[in-house]
Parts: sequence; structure tokens; C-alpha cells
Amino acid sequence: TESLTVGELAKKLRKEPAEIIKKLFSLGIMATINQDLDKDTIELICSEYNVEVEEKIVIDETNFETIEEVDQPQDLQERPPVVTIMGHVDHGKTTLLDAIRSTNVVAGEAGGITQHIGAYQVEIKGKKITFLDTPGHAAFTTMRARGAQITDITILVVAADDGVMPQTVEAISHAKAANVPIIVAVNKIDKENANLDRIKQELTEYGLVAEEWGGETIFCPLSAKQRKGIEELLEYILLVAEVQELKANPNKRARGTVIEAELDKGKGPVARVLVQHGTLKIGDPIVVGAAFGRVRAMVNDKGRRIKEAGPSTPIEITGLNDVPQAGDQFMVFEDEKKARAIGEVRASKLRESERRANTRVSLDDLFQHI
Ligand code: GTP
Ligand code: MG
Repeated sequence: TESLTVGELAKKLRKEPAEIIKKLFSLGIMATINQDLDKDTIELICSEYNVEVEEKIVIDETNFETIEEVDQPQDLQERPPVVTIMGHVDHGKTTLLDAIRSTNVVAGEAGGITQHIGAYQVEIKGKKITFLDTPGHAAFTTMRARGAQITDITILVVAADDGVMPQTVEAISHAKAANVPIIVAVNKIDKENANLDRIKQELTEYGLVAEEWGGETIFCPLSAKQRKGIEELLEYILLVAEVQELKANPNKRARGTVIEAELDKGKGPVARVLVQHGTLKIGDPIVVGAAFGRVRAMVNDKGRRIKEAGPSTPIEITGLNDVPQAGDQFMVFEDEKKARAIGEVRASKLRESERRANTRVSLDDLFQHI
């Protein structure tokens, strides 16, 4: 089935229709008993009751999630890990990102002005690592709220002189909920009152037990400020990535996620995106969230214009008719006509759901049909 009324769904779930209506209300959806619910809403309600929806997935090209592409094992190639940095306020996340970036700049990549594109790539021992530049928490919350998962590894920064703090704990729960492995970067090890063992001890309470203590978590002592321990951290990242066997098929039409987007006075809508599958090329007809267009130009994190970008590559693209949102998925289609058609349907769906979210109904209205 593609749709059910509220009453029919209630019956299937063996719940009172009023309960379903209340549940919908709490999710911001106004509905009456005879109202048709779409597949997404049905799934949402079912997941609230921990019920899995068993049905044939209807291929709806305006809904990217239903377009499944199965890659043959031989088509998959290794891809760089995508890493986010999380941790408590002032524990040194920004300093660490800067240290990583400059370590890499020193190592090569002279010329080219580093461009802020929400993410950047570094290379160590011939292998690339993609870092998301957005605060890890934001990356997790916005992305996860929108159903996108883009992070492969989380670096948890904990200041050696301060220890586990509320946002440290929050970061751990984000990463665990998303099933993303954590590498602990014990920062500020240069400080006099730094205490590595204390950090290890405190984190055991959250299930992060150091390898040298018989656990499975990598603890990497470093000083972001003095740029010590950075190379080791990068090597640990590669080690964890190797175990994960991160792969993607670069030889197909691209798909990925928007990291951030804005309207630029000169360039028009710009989207900073992470390519996750396939290879994005100049001229590709693309739908990004509810925007569409043709990829006019692509710029990488080093500020260079590039013609194509494969899996795990962060880039800035222009050529869209509108500004998408962070967390939006993008997808390349075979021709511009199709991209436009799909983009327009998605845009009108978005307008409709925004309109619905803004509609206020009185409780009397809502319950009069029960
Ligand atoms: P928010 O973005 O506010 O959450 O902070 P942050 O985690 O990005 O911390 P940030 O990098 O801004 O560093 C906070 C302070 O700690 C700054 O004054 C840094 O200079 C200092 N700091 C960062 N890393 C180190 C380090 O390795 N050693 C010492 N001694 N100080 C550090
Ligand atoms: Mg910061």
C-alpha cells in the first residue's frame, strides 16, 4: 500500500485512532480520522511504535531514499574517510582543525588559497582524509535530523587539564547513536596539570576503554597548540578507516549531501557538498534538495577549479536555481529536463509541508471527527 487513512493505520497498529491523531499532532501533523497518510508519515508513525513497515518500495524518483542502487563488489573502490571533530567548549577543536590543516599545507599543496567550503581534505602517506569543518555537533544534529549520515569517524577532543564535560558526554552519545567509531584526542597535553590517565579513567565510564587498558578505543595524546601528535592522530584515523573498509563506486552518477549553502552576490546559489557516491562532473544535471540546475563550476577546498569529484570529496558547486539546505541530498539525473521536473516536484512538496507546518488548527477542529 502507498497510503492509508488514519483510521486504517490505527486498526493495523491496534491503536485507538485518537492516539494516532495525537501522535501525529505531536509530530506537527494535523490530521483527521479519514485523512490519507503518505508513505513517509506512515513509516514515521510505525517507527514511533517500533513497527517495521513491510511493503514493496514504490520507486518514486522524487524521493531519493527510494532510489536504491546496488553496486557490484567489483565496482567498489576505496574512498577516504569522512571525519568530524567534537568535544566540549574550549577543549581545542578549532585549534586542532587548524593544526591538521597547516600540517598538511606544510607537507605539500603550496599555492592555492584555502577556501572555506565546510570541509577539507588532507593527505598523509598518499591517502586522503576528509574533515568536516562544521562543528561536529551541528553536523550530527542537522544531518541526522534530515536522515543523512555522512561521518565515518569521530574525533573526540578532551582537554587533558579539564576532563570529561557535558558536551563530551553529548558527543559520545551522538557518535554512539550513529554507530560511528570514536578516536579520543587528549588535547593540551603540554599543560602542567595535564593528566592523561585521569581522562582515560573518566572515559571508561562511558564505555571508552583505552587499548592499553584492555579496551578498544584509541587514545591519542596531543597538543594542538604546539602541533605535537598531529601526524600520529592522522595515522590512527587511517588505521580505523582501513578496518572500516570504506568503499564507494566512483563510476556512476553522483549522489551526496549538502554541508552548507548560501546565496552569493556574484555567483548566485552556492552549495558546499560532499560527494558520497559516483563522480560529479561539470555540466551534470542535478537536483539538490528542492533546487535543480546544471553544475556550472566546481571548486575544491584548495580553491582550485576542478572538472570532476569522486566519493568523499568536498566541493563547492554553482549553477542551481535556488539555495538548498544543509543536510539536503543531491542526485544527478540523466538529463536536465528530468532534473528540472524532479526538482519542481520536490520544491512544491517542500512548499506544501512548510504550509502545513504553518497551519494552526484548534484542538476542537482536530478532535471533532473522533
Ligand atoms: P569552541 O569552538 O568555543 O567550542 O572551542 P574549541 O574547542 O574550538 O577550542 P579552541 O580551539 O578555540 O581552543 C580554546 C583555547 O584553548 C584557546 O585559547 C587555545 O589556544 C587553547 N588551546 C587549544 N589547544 C591547546 C593545546 O594543545 N595546548 C594549550 N596549552 N592550549 C590549547
Ligand atoms: Mg571552535
